[in-house]
Amino acid sequence: MKRKFLAGLLCVAMGVTTMAGTATVFAADDAAEAEAPADDAAAVDLEGVDLENTKIGISIYQFADNFMTLYRTELVRYLTEDLGFNEKNIIVQDGKNDQAEQTNQINNFITDEVDVMILNLVQSSSAPQITDICNEAGIPVVYINRQPDETESDRWEADGIKATYVGADARQSGTFQGEEILETENKGDINGDGKVSYIMVQGDPENIDAQYRTEFSVKALTDAGVEVEELLLQRGDWDQAKGQQIVQDALTQFGDQVEVVFCNNDAMALGALQAIQAAGRTINEDIYLVGVDALTDAVQNIIDGNMTGTVFNDHFSQAQTAAQMAVKYLKGEDVAPVNMVDYVKVTADNAAEILEKIK
Ligand code: BGC
Repeated sequence: MKRKFLAGLLCVAMGVTTMAGTATVFAADDAAEAEAPADDAAAVDLEGVDLENTKIGISIYQFADNFMTLYRTELVRYLTEDLGFNEKNIIVQDGKNDQAEQTNQINNFITDEVDVMILNLVQSSSAPQITDICNEAGIPVVYINRQPDETESDRWEADGIKATYVGADARQSGTFQGEEILETENKGDINGDGKVSYIMVQGDPENIDAQYRTEFSVKALTDAGVEVEELLLQRGDWDQAKGQQIVQDALTQFGDQVEVVFCNNDAMALGALQAIQAAGRTINEDIYLVGVDALTDAVQNIIDGNMTGTVFNDHFSQAQTAAQMAVKYLKGEDVAPVNMVDYVKVTADNAAEILEKIK
């Protein structure tokens, strides 16, 4: 079912945009020209790869993260079930949101002589240091989810370093969130005062996903000529409980002035929803709420009319592409420095269909 879903997405020009170090443009036309990930594992060329003995070191920034749990599960499933790597050689570590702890894990991977690493850094700013350690040890790295600076990926390419990034362009998800508000009957201006008054619940601001979603969700509104008023911007670190607290406090402070709640991810949006309901507000009538990720609970809430929209952060394609880039390294092939998967807008129009396919 899941693989069928991905094949469907690719057919409608989703695909992976392989880029030479520069920022991506995410128009469907560009995606159509881009190299698509092989959604069918049989299409991945594993010739010459020692599936039984290859060691893969994986470190996830924090196991407690809802989205990264889905991602991690798919990554391990795909590597073992679809590609056939030996499960006992796939070592998955919890970075516990602590860069020093994660750097230790990476040093242990080097001592263990893993053949390739797949890393979701706690701090993307650590990429230059980690890349150098791995490069000196001769171990290729596939970074996922938290994109290192462009200067860093440019360096990999210029110096022939075996490091690459697989992710999704967060500008696209931010833009989609803004568009979802523009698609409502009053374009987000519920009280008709000529401006959209919003709260922004931000992820960890060290993470480019948080920076871009914050900027581009609002930019979509202003680009469409809509006036905006930011009532509050606060970091919720991708966390549901923090999202709830921030929105609870904001609703107490700003009351009916709040027309839109933007959350950089669904975990925080689910927290926001608890606060919104506790305050007696009604989604899509007197307040709008959008997130990112398409967690099952969020998509169900869209169907039930309790969330305005979300954006599918395609962890299936991202996990599979990351695994495929690791295989390319194992085969001694060249890998582009940056590989992007498209996001998909999720609203009441397609939520049931999306839910069927992700659950
Ligand atoms: C996801 C968040 C997640 C974060 C972790 C983002 O792309 O949308 O849900 O917490 O990645 O880095």
